[in-house]
Amino acid sequence: MLIAGNWKMFKGPGEAGEFCRALRDADLGTVDVVVCPPYVSLAAAVQALAGTEIGVAAQNVHWKADGAFTGEIAAPMLRELGVYGTIVGHSERRQFFGETDETVVKRIVAAIEHGLHVIACVGETEAEREAGETEAVLRRQVGAIADGIPETDDLVIAYEPVWAIGTGKTATPEIAQEAHALVRSILDVPVLYGGSVKPDNAAELAAQPDVDGALVGGASLDLESFATICRQASHS
Ligand code: PGA
Repeated sequence: MLIAGNWKMFKGPGEAGEFCRALRDADLGTVDVVVCPPYVSLAAAVQALAGTEIGVAAQNVHWKADGAFTGEIAAPMLRELGVYGTIVGHSERRQFFGETDETVVKRIVAAIEHGLHVIACVGETEAEREAGETEAVLRRQVGAIADGIPETDDLVIAYEPVWAIGTGKTATPEIAQEAHALVRSILDVPVLYGGSVKPDNAAELAAQPDVDGALVGGASLDLESFATICRQASHS
């Protein structure tokens, strides 16, 4: 069971270091824990969590090892910092920054090649769900990944229905389970659920047979709420 905190564009280096030092002493139950700070806060997080089992991951990575790509960050640079992995293909990247299935696959391949663990995000929008297209969308997104990457133990998928992200509208455990089972039938890797995971719904989501953890956004920014989610998920 893996609980990853996606901080998005929150917490600069000072706040990140302070949070991670407090995280060291928090009761996080028995789950594996990863935090994903913004790029500029990665070094502070790595330093504060040195010697612990808590991993630090980035929120994105470029597919080239270096080059003229203004504003991008390469996998070897993350490795040099002591970063353990990266999120790829988050729906906010797909929606607002032109990320496609093709670029998602390129990023995953490069990350794995350079020794980073990857949390690759997939999920349907509200309009797609209402149009009955959820299965087709997941087959397309996960299929692209399954077809495009080498066999690896360094990948987990995060199923994040876009309508549940930051909305307070969590998928029911049944909806999550159904989607996770579909994802796993296409690509047999652990599947995290993401989308308005909170202390009071983490346990029932984590109890589903095909839910292997959570990617937590808003509720990961507060130490007590993140630690409670970790403990709740530990019970299942
Ligand atoms: P949320 O975000 O928990 O704030 O809904 C999840 C995510 O975007 O990874």
